[in-house]
Amino acid sequence: MTSGLAYVPLPTTPTYGATKAAVHSYTESLREQLRESSVQVIEIAPPLTRTTLMGSGTDNERAMPLDQFVAEAMSLLDSQPDAQQILVERVKRQRFAEATGTYDEVFAMQAGR
Ligand SMILES: NC(=O)c1ccc[n+]([C@@H]2O[C@H](COP(=O)([O-])OP(=O)(O)OC[C@H]3O[C@@H](n4cnc5c(N)ncnc54)[C@H](OP(=O)(O)O)[C@@H]3O)[C@@H](O)[C@H]2O)c1
Repeated sequence: MTSGLAYVPLPTTPTYGATKAAVHSYTESLREQLRESSVQVIEIAPPLTRTTLMGSGTDNERAMPLDQFVAEAMSLLDSQPDAQQILVERVKRQRFAEATGTYDEVFAMQAGR
C-alpha cells in the first residue's frame, strides 16, 4: 500500500510521503527479485480516501468515498490480474504529475498555495 503522496508529497506530512515513496521503490525491486517465483507484487496507491487516516474523516468532501475506492480498486484487480500498480482514476493526477509536466502545479496545490 503506497499513496498518491508517494509521487507528489504533502508538505504537512513529510515523513509519511517519504515512507510511501520508499515503499514504491521497495516494491519495484521486490517484484524483480521475485520475478521467477509464484509471488506477485502489486502496489496499490490510493488517492485521499474517506477513512480516519490523516484526519480525512468519513465526511471530507475532498476525499474519495471509501466504497467507491474499494469498488474501483477491486474492479481493476479483477480486470488486470497482471497489473504492477492499481491506480484508480482519482490518483492519476498525482501518479503521473512528473510525466505530464504538472508536478509543480500539483505540489503547489498540496502545499496550499
Ligand atoms: N485514507 C487515505 O486517504 C489513504 C490514501 C493513500 C494511502 N492510504 C494507505 O492505505 C492504507 C490503509 O489506510 P486507511 O486509510 O484504511 O487507514 P485506517 O482507516 O487508519 O486503517 C488502518 C488499518 O491498519 C491497521 N493497523 C494499524 N497499525 C497496525 C499494526 N501495527 N499492525 C496491524 N494492523 C495495523 C488498523 O487496525 P485497527 O483498526 O485494528 O487499529 C486499521 O485496520 C495505509 O497504508 C495508508 O497509508 C490511505
